[in-house]
Amino acid sequence: MAVDISKGYVNIPVGEGINLPAEIAKLKKEKNAIILAHYYQRDEIQDIADFVGDSLALAQWATKTDADIIVLCGVHFMGETAKILSPQKKVLIPDMNAGCSLADSCPADKFEEFIKLHPGYTVVSYVNTSAAVKAVTDVVVTSTNAKIIIDSLPADEKIIFGPDRNLGNYINSVTGRKMVLWDGACHVHEEFSVEKIIELKKKHPEAKVLAHPECKKVVLQMADFIGSTAALLNYSANSENKEFIVATESGIIHEMKRKSPTKLFIPAPPRDSTCACNECNFMRLNTLEKLYNCLKYELPQVQVEENIRLKAVKSIHRMLEISAKNGL
Ligand code: 13P
Ligand code: SF4
Repeated sequence: MAVDISKGYVNIPVGEGINLPAEIAKLKKEKNAIILAHYYQRDEIQDIADFVGDSLALAQWATKTDADIIVLCGVHFMGETAKILSPQKKVLIPDMNAGCSLADSCPADKFEEFIKLHPGYTVVSYVNTSAAVKAVTDVVVTSTNAKIIIDSLPADEKIIFGPDRNLGNYINSVTGRKMVLWDGACHVHEEFSVEKIIELKKKHPEAKVLAHPECKKVVLQMADFIGSTAALLNYSANSENKEFIVATESGIIHEMKRKSPTKLFIPAPPRDSTCACNECNFMRLNTLEKLYNCLKYELPQVQVEENIRLKAVKSIHRMLEISAKNGL
């Protein structure tokens, strides 16, 4: 009987009392599979992953693993990136509904129209985009390598940057470029409240504010350090400081605490204190149950049309090459 994935994941109840981490480890071995997880995943998924990393590291892992199956515990564009780079492998994600509001803010047809309005421009896209957007992109970036990649382009190059306006503005400010920006944003990073961070600073005057460049400019202006998830993590681990207010998706705090168990990490609050808006609802769709079923039934699989893949892979390879040349 065909397995039902009409809901976007394998919808079969997991038997009561089953030891999911142990069963997942068994399946992984049997099937020569690897589990790659983003820092924003639920703690229990990070704990059993073979590798936990930022968007750049996940893409790099997808190119170097010799596993037959990659289970990408993250959001859909991360699964697509792995599939684009490793088309011969089976790439699974536990829940296909794990999208991304930032990627959704940039539909490929509209982005193409935007590109046509700017002939002669080089198109740079953040990795948080669909495969179809990457296919019309000259070079992909992540928040770890965006500055290095923009700096590597000739000073007079005219550049379109999409889809994140906050990251784009930030990169313009640190590179002195005047990139034309697509007007997109992430619903999690847009929500952090300056007022509430100021309140927290009153209670914790020694705390350093760490912010992801997807945050709004007003939040970035009050940050002691701005960087990708991996950069924020390294900063917190290497800093002498003992307290941090963390303005990015709160899942990163799991790894921050693991690396620095004696330090205090306070999630920056969203504007609306009645919601958990500093958690990415898409990232949290992946659960241990769905991960177990996905590995057991090898469903759902990420697919990318071959004509799109062949174009998208060029812009991702260009990113990986520039990163490698710069020691990333
Ligand atoms: P990085 O992991 O590249 O910092 O990106 C954060 C993000 O928004 C992933 O969705
Ligand atoms: Fe997308 Fe924002 Fe979620 Fe990252 S945190 S996956 S950018 S919606």
